[in-house]
Amino acid sequence: MNLTDFYKSKIIVISAGPTYEKIDPVRFIGNYSTGKMGFELAEVLAENGAEVHLVAGPTQLTAMHSNIKTYLVESALEMYNQCTQLFEKADIAIMAAAVADYRPAEVSDIKIKKNEDTLTIHLVKNPDILATLGARKKENQIVIGFALETNNEIENARKKLEKKNADAIVLNSLQYKGAGFKYDTNKISILLKNGRIFEYQLKSKREVAQDITACIPLI
Ligand code: C5P
Repeated sequence: MNLTDFYKSKIIVISAGPTYEKIDPVRFIGNYSTGKMGFELAEVLAENGAEVHLVAGPTQLTAMHSNIKTYLVESALEMYNQCTQLFEKADIAIMAAAVADYRPAEVSDIKIKKNEDTLTIHLVKNPDILATLGARKKENQIVIGFALETNNEIENARKKLEKKNADAIVLNSLQYKGAGFKYDTNKISILLKNGRIFEYQLKSKREVAQDITACIPLI
C-alpha cells in the first residue's frame, strides 16, 4: 500500500525525549535522551500525511512540519496525563520517550541544604504510559513501544511486547557502536505481535524513522 494513502487522516501520538523528576526547585533526576528518534518519527509521519501529536520531555529540538502539534511536558506524570488524553482520539501511539521509572516521593518547596554527609531521596514508581495505552487500546488502535536491552535482546523485547500488550516493539541494539542515546544513528529490529521480525542495518535516525513508518502498515 502507498504510505501516504495509509497515513492520510491518521492521528498519531508520539512521546519523545527524557522526563525530569523534580527533587527541589533547582534539581531533578533525568537521563541523557535527546528526543531525536521521536522527533524524526514525527517529521517522517507528518510528511506522509499523518496528523501528529508530539508529547516531548525537555529537549533542545523543535518540530518543523505544520502537521505536528507539540506538547511540552517535564515529568513522567505530565507526559502520562497528556498521552492518555490524546490517545482517546488517536489511531496510533508510538512511545519513544525515555520515561524515568521513578520520581522523588516528595518534592521540597525550598532548595535542599547540604547540611548532612549523606542524603537519602525516597523514590516511588512512575506509571508506565506504554502499558496503560496497551491496556486501554481498542481494536482499531495500534500501540508501539521501544526497548533497549543488554542481553537476550529478542526474547526480552518479545516479553515486553506481550506484557505491555503492544502491537510492535522497536528494539534498539546496544551492541553496535554509534547506536542509541546521544548518537545520530540507530540499529534496530522491529518485532510485530504476529511473530514477524524485521532487522535493519545501522542507519541515521531519519532513515530508522522511515523504516518504522514503512513497517507500521504491516502490523
Ligand atoms: O519497560 P521499559 O522502560 O524498558 O519499556 C520501554 C518502553 O516503554 C518505551 O517505549 C517507553 O517509552 C515506554 N515507557 C513508558 N512509560 C514508562 C516507562 C516506559 O511509556 N513509565
